[in-house]
Amino acid sequence: MRTLLAVLAVLWAQAAAATPYTVPDSGREAYSRPFGGLTDAQMESFYRGRSLFNQNWVIAPAKEGQGLGPLYNRLGCVSCHPREGRGAPPDGPEMRMQSMLVRISIPGVDAHGGPKPHPAYGTQLNEEGIPGVPGEGRAMLSWVESFVTLADGEKIAMRRPEINFVDLGYGPLGEILISPRVGQQVYGLGLLDAVDDSTLEHFAKARKPDGVRGRVNRVWDQEGGRMAIGRFGYKANVPTLRDQIAGAANGDIGITSVIFPQENCMPSQRACLDAPSGGYPELSAKDLDDMAFHMAHLAVPGPRNTDAKRGDALFSKLGCALCHRRNLVTGNSKFPELAHRTIHPYTDLLIHDMGNGLSDGRPDYLAGGSEWRTAPLWGIGLAAKINGHAGYLHDGRARTLSEAVLWHGGEARRSRDRFAALPAEERRALIDYLDSL
Ligand code: HEC
Ligand code: HEC
Repeated sequence: MRTLLAVLAVLWAQAAAATPYTVPDSGREAYSRPFGGLTDAQMESFYRGRSLFNQNWVIAPAKEGQGLGPLYNRLGCVSCHPREGRGAPPDGPEMRMQSMLVRISIPGVDAHGGPKPHPAYGTQLNEEGIPGVPGEGRAMLSWVESFVTLADGEKIAMRRPEINFVDLGYGPLGEILISPRVGQQVYGLGLLDAVDDSTLEHFAKARKPDGVRGRVNRVWDQEGGRMAIGRFGYKANVPTLRDQIAGAANGDIGITSVIFPQENCMPSQRACLDAPSGGYPELSAKDLDDMAFHMAHLAVPGPRNTDAKRGDALFSKLGCALCHRRNLVTGNSKFPELAHRTIHPYTDLLIHDMGNGLSDGRPDYLAGGSEWRTAPLWGIGLAAKINGHAGYLHDGRARTLSEAVLWHGGEARRSRDRFAALPAEERRALIDYLDSL
């Protein structure tokens, strides 16, 4: 038995060395690269998935890529995940949402304990409709400014979004819960998908100092037809990468798949239900497999400036690493190159109470308004360069990494306060460290 395990360990180590999951790239394509060492057949699947991710869907009937809408937000995945990176919020109410969406619901829960759909609008405001189908309306975002003064006297400008709805297509909204969210970075997710449930449950149970807790979200797995631990989305509100991809195709673009066979129309939206459809499924099973392969094998940019030792030590000392865990080990995976690997995503994939300042007041399964999944920080230092803007946190409110940290509250309050109390030079060292990830 021992020898067998030893042999397996060696084989896994060899497989890992043969398929590195980080890429030594700090250019504008650094979020878009495949794992190293993929076979020709795997590369073909990766690139097919990539072109589906980058494509603009069109109204049916058409030769290919057909089935857009009837209701939708954007024409393609890439609109909200530019270069596999993050979206940006609008600068103000005069600008449309380009890479952001607003989740909505009414108080209460659905049959699986998830957000209760608004009877006329569902769980997401689809701003656009194909000809003949009115869009659901427009979410206008305005910024409310405030200031935080740090221990050394430096004043930092902060902002939080406020949403107003105009041009509503299907009657008044009434009492609703809303959650504006920008598109997330999407690299490295195959590895996060491959972390065992038991690992996350173990993290949740472990005792942590500073009042840090963290728990798993339990959500509906649409493909599996059961409840499962959530890990994707800002509140860990989706359980698997495949559910996430098919759910995005359906909810954001209006594309049906084997996982989400129905068009995204509410029963009262007649024009939507009667509109021409691209047949079923609009995203074929093979397309979905290729998209899932692509997303699962998007590599992570390797850390760059290894000279950030001081910041590294501060990251632990301030308590950041209690949630932004440096090391995770993946479990089994149907893709052997994702299995049993030690990775450094700087997340525990748990949801944490982050305080009132970050609350959206909209529960998502077990996650309350102020609970959010620890954001993975790998690759974060390249965000501004690759996406041409910063825009951190779930709604992109933070324009700098410092602002992002200063919004931390709740379980992260102690950590945030220690950061705010640092001398400028040590704050800089910590930020330089984040920039090196
Ligand atoms: C209108 C903007 C928009 C479009 C279009 C869009 N997304 Fe997203 N995407 C988001 C937002 C916002 C989130 C966070 C969702 C949440 O928290 O529920 C997200 C989350 C994700 C995640 C999870 C990332 C993580 O770390 O958990 C994946 C994967 C993803 N999207 C893939 C896709 C794919 C594939 C498509 C196209 C089929 C797509 N998205 C289209 C906005 C968009
Ligand atoms: C209690 C857990 C916890 C602690 C402690 C914590 N964080 Fe976070 N962090 C989170 C969560 C949860 C989010 C996502 C919040 C959101 O999207 O609104 C986040 C988001 C961030 C972001 C923005 C990431 C992005 O992609 O937008 C940065 C940067 C960050 N944290 C850095 C830090 C640093 C530095 C420290 C230590 C000073 C720290 N965090 C301590 C839980 C924590």
